[in-house]
Amino acid sequence: MTFVRVCGAGELEEDTPKRVELDGTPVSLVRTEGEVFAIHDICSHANVSLAEGEVDDCHIECWLHGSRFDLRTGKPDSLPATRPVPVYPVKIEGDDVLVSLTQES
Ligand code: FES
Repeated sequence: MTFVRVCGAGELEEDTPKRVELDGTPVSLVRTEGEVFAIHDICSHANVSLAEGEVDDCHIECWLHGSRFDLRTGKPDSLPATRPVPVYPVKIEGDDVLVSLTQES
């Protein structure tokens, strides 16, 4: 599994998603509840950025129609989205946030 540095840990504010690109793949990084999560930054319902949404209770809410995706699994727990969004492994090394595009689920 290859991890690539995407940003500094200090650049991530609690519950404020940060959009990055990794090999052309849009990824939303979210620091919440003491962890950092990486979720594919395109909603599975339509082609919009999840990084524009709100974070709450380890979920990110799509700003367009309100589906909530679990940051741990990528699964939606509310309609209209029915398909999961890929989530990616994250490592913190010192002040570096590293992500692998290998999917966890
Ligand atoms: S575009 Fe995200 S729920 Fe519709």
